[in-house]
Amino acid sequence: MALLPVIIAPDPRLKIKCRPVERVDAELVRLMDDMLETMYAAPGIGLSAPQVGDDRRVIVVDVGRDEEERAPLCMVNPEIIEISDQDVTYEEGCLSFPEQYSDVSRPDHVRVRYLDRQNEIRELKADGVLATCVQHEIDHLDGILFVDHLTALRRSMIMRKMQKTKRLKESELA
Ligand code: NI
Repeated sequence: MALLPVIIAPDPRLKIKCRPVERVDAELVRLMDDMLETMYAAPGIGLSAPQVGDDRRVIVVDVGRDEEERAPLCMVNPEIIEISDQDVTYEEGCLSFPEQYSDVSRPDHVRVRYLDRQNEIRELKADGVLATCVQHEIDHLDGILFVDHLTALRRSMIMRKMQKTKRLKESELA
């Protein structure tokens, strides 16, 4: 397994619409293993393929609190097929937005259909932080970032900070 570099916002690669996967094969399973390792190392609770420069509809998620409770989920072509009327608000962060957190409201229950590591169709009913995390990651596959759910003012505040950090990093490297 290998750690993958995570793309930091702002970056046009985070705004692409990812393409569906035709079949889950060994190469894709390797990518998902690398994504999981990268997510655990960060540490984070979710990661999407575009964040590591891949344009396929793939996410990995694990909201387990520590190593003993690990329950990794690998989802290919994930699709939300049911949402609750009730919304819930969580403070969200994103590995592509280091040190930025904001409250986001989303449906508090979702049902998701996806292909698993064995190329089998599965369904997952998620609630709580798992529901939020899965929705956040699926958004990434359509180029939607958590800041896109915020007010324009809050979003531009975060994006200005991100741009500043990026310019600082680039000038350090120059
Ligand atoms: Ni994210």
